[in-house]
Amino acid sequence: IPVDPFDLVIFGGTGDLARRKIFPALFRRFVAGQIEGDVRLIGAARSEMDRAAYRAMVRAAIAEFGGEEARRKKDLAAFLDLLDYVMVDARGTAGWSDLAGKMRKDRIRAFYFSVAPALFGDLAKRLHKHGMADAASRIVVEKPFGRDLETARDLNRVLARHFEERQIYRIDHYLGKETVQNLMAIRFGNVLFEPLWNSQYVDHIQITVAESVGVGGRGDYYDKSGAMRDMVQNHMMQLLCLIAMEPPAKFDPDAVRDEKLKVIRALDPVKGADVVRGQYEAQEDKPDYRVQVDNPESTTESFVALKVHISNWRWAGTPFYLRTGKRLRERASEIAVVFKDAPHSIFGPEAGRHRNILTIKLQPNEGIELGVTIKEPGPGGMRLIDVPLDMTFAEALGPEEADFPDAYERLIMDVIRGNQTLFMRGDEVEAAWAWTDPVIAEWEDEGAAPLPYASGSSGPDDALMLMHRDGRRWREIRP
Ligand code: BG6
Repeated sequence: IPVDPFDLVIFGGTGDLARRKIFPALFRRFVAGQIEGDVRLIGAARSEMDRAAYRAMVRAAIAEFGGEEARRKKDLAAFLDLLDYVMVDARGTAGWSDLAGKMRKDRIRAFYFSVAPALFGDLAKRLHKHGMADAASRIVVEKPFGRDLETARDLNRVLARHFEERQIYRIDHYLGKETVQNLMAIRFGNVLFEPLWNSQYVDHIQITVAESVGVGGRGDYYDKSGAMRDMVQNHMMQLLCLIAMEPPAKFDPDAVRDEKLKVIRALDPVKGADVVRGQYEAQEDKPDYRVQVDNPESTTESFVALKVHISNWRWAGTPFYLRTGKRLRERASEIAVVFKDAPHSIFGPEAGRHRNILTIKLQPNEGIELGVTIKEPGPGGMRLIDVPLDMTFAEALGPEEADFPDAYERLIMDVIRGNQTLFMRGDEVEAAWAWTDPVIAEWEDEGAAPLPYASGSSGPDDALMLMHRDGRRWREIRP
């Protein structure tokens, strides 16, 4: 179903995010027929450029990042027709009346702030001053949303001066991933799991987001952030919330976000002994972390593992183990819910110890696997083995149906539809920082260096110990 006609202004319209994600996503939605009719996509940035040059830039970006669809020449030409460009000085006066002149009445207006957060305030102010922001307009902002509680509060305050919360769309692209939304479908669409979804039946939960790539060309940003700020405060936190929250009464923005917020507020502070930080070493032709970020003294972590407790009735006593890192063995993200042992084994000790594990595979090879205990075939005694009930979504749905849209496709369309369910509310972001800050402060105060780990491994050995000492084991990192 096509969305209503809209004008979308992309500040930072010549930047990396616009080229890699925003335009390819818009183009795919266009090809899918969701964007049609009277729509205008206006790039705004500092460079002097005419419309033709801008179209050529976007055409090249789609050719590079647009996948299969980019070959559809006719569609591409029609899509490029929607584009316009305005030179705008975010901190000055140049270009603003031009931009205001392009805005049309009776259209949904969305402004994508694909720029450094330091410019959010300048943009918001000028949009107002030039009469471009009405009650129905929306702004979209990206992470990093602050680097601690204080800076996040400042950003929220700056935006709140000119926009209401219902107009602010804070993107965490993990929420746009099909499989992440599937966490809610699996939990709340089935009657099977929810009765067991608590500390009475769940021994522990593991959340792994492993990447095989290093920091690449983003060393400058990354070295000031590290895995805790870059991944845990936002993406991992969202996964934790969706897996741990109480059922919202409705799938609507505030109902869902209220429940997530309660989880974050129920998180215990993490003690130093429950955190392991790592930094990757060189591997063959690939440089180590410090070389890659060009900082020989860097104590920033490219890996972090933590043990987390949620102090509420549902989860007291069930630990959550989180780990994420770069240059690990494989790119593989999953959530494993490890159930407790059966209360009593009628088969005696020889049958061994068996546990049900529900694994939700987020990427790649999206799917669900349930470890079930059965009898080992054969005439011998009653020996038990664990086998997976294994379902990849691609097999279950067929490759066509399982061709999941990119997170940005879903999220940008939600902005136009005015649906905030998959966006972070201001208080949620602040609560996540309030929990993250003391963890980071502890290691910063101590000046602690992260532990080196081999590229292509599953992180430092101490991360394995984090579980071993509790008599538990991480699942293998595999796609
Ligand atoms: C980004 C982080 O938010 O998420 C990156 O800044 C990380 O460091 C990326 O690589 C991971 O996203 P995805 O979609 O590839 O899992």
